[in-house]
Amino acid sequence: MKRALISDIHGNLEALRAVLDDVREQGIREIYCLGDIIGYGPNPRECLDTVTEFDACILGNHDQAALFDPDGFNPVALRAIYWTREQLESGPGSPAAMSRRWDFLGELPSSKNEGEFLFVHGSPREPTNEYVFPEDVYNQTKMRSLFGRIELFCFQGHTHVPGVFTESGEFISPEECGYCYSLSDTKAMVNVGSVGQPRDSDPRACYTILEERQVRFRRVEYPFEETIAKIYAQPSLDNMLGDRLREGR
Ligand SMILES: [Fe+2]
Repeated sequence: MKRALISDIHGNLEALRAVLDDVREQGIREIYCLGDIIGYGPNPRECLDTVTEFDACILGNHDQAALFDPDGFNPVALRAIYWTREQLESGPGSPAAMSRRWDFLGELPSSKNEGEFLFVHGSPREPTNEYVFPEDVYNQTKMRSLFGRIELFCFQGHTHVPGVFTESGEFISPEECGYCYSLSDTKAMVNVGSVGQPRDSDPRACYTILEERQVRFRRVEYPFEETIAKIYAQPSLDNMLGDRLREGR
């Protein structure tokens, strides 16, 4: 079975559309979203409505922040969260469409377990909020604890930095493995990258294809200047949220 794993869309509709076009061209029908559908980007409603059609979705910290009192966010992210909330609480759209979005967000699970595959937003230890950065491979205590919580493979997002963490203590970026990594019988955590706000210096949208035990990282160009123009036009969204899309940071 071939499945697309996408994460951290962050209200970026142009990036989401480009990724979904690519998913279709690859002949993939099943799509899992690993959270952070909204927050930062200018099209939270449209992105949410698209994700409701997917086969599975996990709760991200920004999705959670739209529902409950946001905690641990910087001022720029916080303003974007409050603006996103307003967008979800106001039109256009029928009251039914509005409550459908809130219900969808409110019912998102924090993880999905499919035997040897675990899907989370952050980490196997704290599925919604914990970051696992490439440099964490030097923190053996943390890595041991994280690997201790997975049966075999964990797929996650949250840092917006794609790559594979091996149990032997390596982080392998998509470039380093030629955008393709074969999972073996040893444990691995795979960060699927970010659709709407990549932070690995590559501005192209990122997602991952999982087919049997083969992981493929895809990079997809999208018209980010359109997204940036929308962010610049919205005073509640800091210009920096647009600028970073250009550089992938
Ligand atoms: Fe995120």
